[in-house]
Amino acid sequence: MSKVNRFDVITIFPDYLAPLKLSLIGKAAEAGLIEIGVHDLRAQTTDVHGSVDDTPYGGGAGMVMSPEPWGKAIDLVAELSDAPVHELIVLTPAGEKLTQKIAEELTKSRHLIFACGRYEGIDARVTAYYQSQPNFKVREVSIGDYVLGGGEVATLVIMEAIIRLIPGVIGNPLSLEEESHSLEDENSTLVEYPTYTKPAQWRGLNVPEVLLSGNHGAIAAFRREQSQIRTTKLTRNPEK
Ligand code: ADE
Repeated sequence: MSKVNRFDVITIFPDYLAPLKLSLIGKAAEAGLIEIGVHDLRAQTTDVHGSVDDTPYGGGAGMVMSPEPWGKAIDLVAELSDAPVHELIVLTPAGEKLTQKIAEELTKSRHLIFACGRYEGIDARVTAYYQSQPNFKVREVSIGDYVLGGGEVATLVIMEAIIRLIPGVIGNPLSLEEESHSLEDENSTLVEYPTYTKPAQWRGLNVPEVLLSGNHGAIAAFRREQSQIRTTKLTRNPEK
């Protein structure tokens, strides 16, 4: 088996993950820089209806995803990689909030398995079981303080944040260093400065003069100042 990072997604809506074939991620997979598999959870059900959920013990609204199909699907998918540790990412609004730091950490994992829950979530014993397995690491991850219909969109977000950091995926790696939330340089706490391209005039608005000056020192100073202004606005007014 190959040494590139492998990503497996388990979902009841495989079609939701179709965007993985496009753009940056699709090209990276085609070039063999990463491997991606999308798996239908219902393939692991045994009843004629392909049931994946049931009513919650203790009562309450909604349905809970049953542990058995999840256990079977995760065990099967784990066999697709010879990585010593499989990192199971369970998408849930109750998880740790995704940050650039987490995305960077996840680039180091050779095998990521994304479990896309729906309804009121997955039976809690699934995370408990894999947490107890020496060849698994489990992380519950949220992409923000809002509730989605399921983990599929969150998986797309997290995979995009990770995959673009993998060496060779982005044509010009310098662009990674300059951008917002990049942890590599002194601007680690600053968001990116505003960017401009041609034409120099558009609808009466001019590109800032300094960017046309060719004075690299002045340009760097201007950009740093703009980053600081943007960052201050965000931290003073985090809701805007
Ligand atoms: N599933 C439902 N809402 C979610 C969120 N905010 N993040 C990750 N997974 C989710």
